Amino acid sequence: MIWNQPVVAPHYDFNSLIEDHPDLQKLITVDGHYSFSHQPTVRTLTAAILKKYHGITSELSPHHLCPRVPNRYLYLQWLSQISEIILPKGDWSMISVVDIGTGSSAIYPLLGASMNKGWKFVGTECNEGSYKLAMANIGRNPWVEGKIKVVKVVDPRKILDFTKISIDNNNNNNNKDQLVLVMCNPPFFDTELKNSVEFDTKIAATKLVATDSELFYPGGEIRFIKQMIAESVVQQQHVNRWYTSMVGQFTSLKPIIEELKTKGIINFGIFELNPGHHHNNNNGKNIDQGLDRYIDDGSSNTPIIRWVVFWSFQATHIPDFLGHQYSNKYKGLNGLITTFKINLKTPRINIVPVIFDKLLKPLNCIEISTSKMMMFKGTNNPSDEFNVVEVVVAGDVWSRAYRRKLKRLTAVTTKTESENPGVAVKKQRGSGVLFPDKDKSIFQVIFDDVHNQIVVFWKFGYNEKIFESFCGLVNREVNST
Ligand SMILES: C[S@@+](CC[C@H](N)C(=O)[O-])C[C@H]1O[C@@H](n2cnc3c(N)ncnc32)[C@H](O)[C@@H]1O
Repeated sequence: MIWNQPVVAPHYDFNSLIEDHPDLQKLITVDGHYSFSHQPTVRTLTAAILKKYHGITSELSPHHLCPRVPNRYLYLQWLSQISEIILPKGDWSMISVVDIGTGSSAIYPLLGASMNKGWKFVGTECNEGSYKLAMANIGRNPWVEGKIKVVKVVDPRKILDFTKISIDNNNNNNNKDQLVLVMCNPPFFDTELKNSVEFDTKIAATKLVATDSELFYPGGEIRFIKQMIAESVVQQQHVNRWYTSMVGQFTSLKPIIEELKTKGIINFGIFELNPGHHHNNNNGKNIDQGLDRYIDDGSSNTPIIRWVVFWSFQATHIPDFLGHQYSNKYKGLNGLITTFKINLKTPRINIVPVIFDKLLKPLNCIEISTSKMMMFKGTNNPSDEFNVVEVVVAGDVWSRAYRRKLKRLTAVTTKTESENPGVAVKKQRGSGVLFPDKDKSIFQVIFDDVHNQIVVFWKFGYNEKIFESFCGLVNREVNST
């Protein structure tokens, strides 16, 4: 993985698309702006982008929602980045993505399979017409054979019915080595809005074409995602599952996050999908901004931001650059902070090796290792690799309280051992067996050369206090070095 790598929309060259499909000229208005309200041409554009840039053959139905590619791409790119955190050295063929409501285009499975060759997808769909069209679209792409399945949902009130969603060919949904990523682009609107004046003026005026099941759900996206949360809670013993969903309206975030908190879920976060974020081209200028408006609601003049909410019952964490929003408007909406940054006073000196030798090695770690990580440098140049130290500890092994507790327990252990030789020998210092597993934590200490910072990432653990205490420890060492 590349630390701090932004999730950005790909570069689609509109001029070259027009050369291949002169019809696309219709999307440019007389005053030279883009307009994405002419649905047949938007379909041509989508199919052209999918073919030219992603090798996907598609036929997009004139009666169904036409997916805009950049948003979908961003969501999948983010998903792929978080997988590298959850399954760092893992086998990517062990990743299955479940796409709830895959739609007539099967956009997420097709695009996702083109981006990550190892991934397998199961799409679910409740609308008969969409289901058939999705199957046909998948059939048009023989290169995905065996990688994508679509399940026809009979009872749409059940969203995450894993008794029907078999993620591997042996119908084995309990393989704990398998990482299951649930993704979803839910119907946005409340069914009640359907015949309202508000809907007519706001949405119908954009000439958006879609079926009812694509747009409406009783209670809208909030209720849909709350239902996903409720169903995930009953499956929480399946810790290999990560749940994510796109959110279409900012105002939906608050009730969704509140629901997660009410259900006692602490490992959650929000990520902003902004199709206006591009990699700079080689001249340092931003590439074609016009296509930013090629989004689900083609009426807008500014790129529309969507969000992904995610949650899990695992104690593996997602770094803040992929799951935490710093702007004030997200106050109260964020999950746990998992990344702590310490600014270095001396310019660009990597003190991670010093921290390794002086501070971390002498600790009672279950494991300590060093590795390399790529750091995103803000250019298209390959980034350098930096030292990362990873420590696995049984708890706050650096604290006086821990040492006292350890001493007490070791004394008891030694006594028991002398009375019953061989009974308690397994309890070695720092082995992690003395304290409950809930205190086990994994931290990474990374040198961020770009920002001249030491970054502490809380990779795994249930106990936030231990992370805070570890950050304090590293901070003191950095400041005294
Ligand atoms: C907003 S559309 C998204 C389609 C596609 N994933 C995309 O991003 O373009 C929502 C889809 O969810 C489907 N859907 C709604 N409720 C569902 C349920 N309970 N299970 C499966 N699919 C459902 C709808 O039929 C529709 O195709």
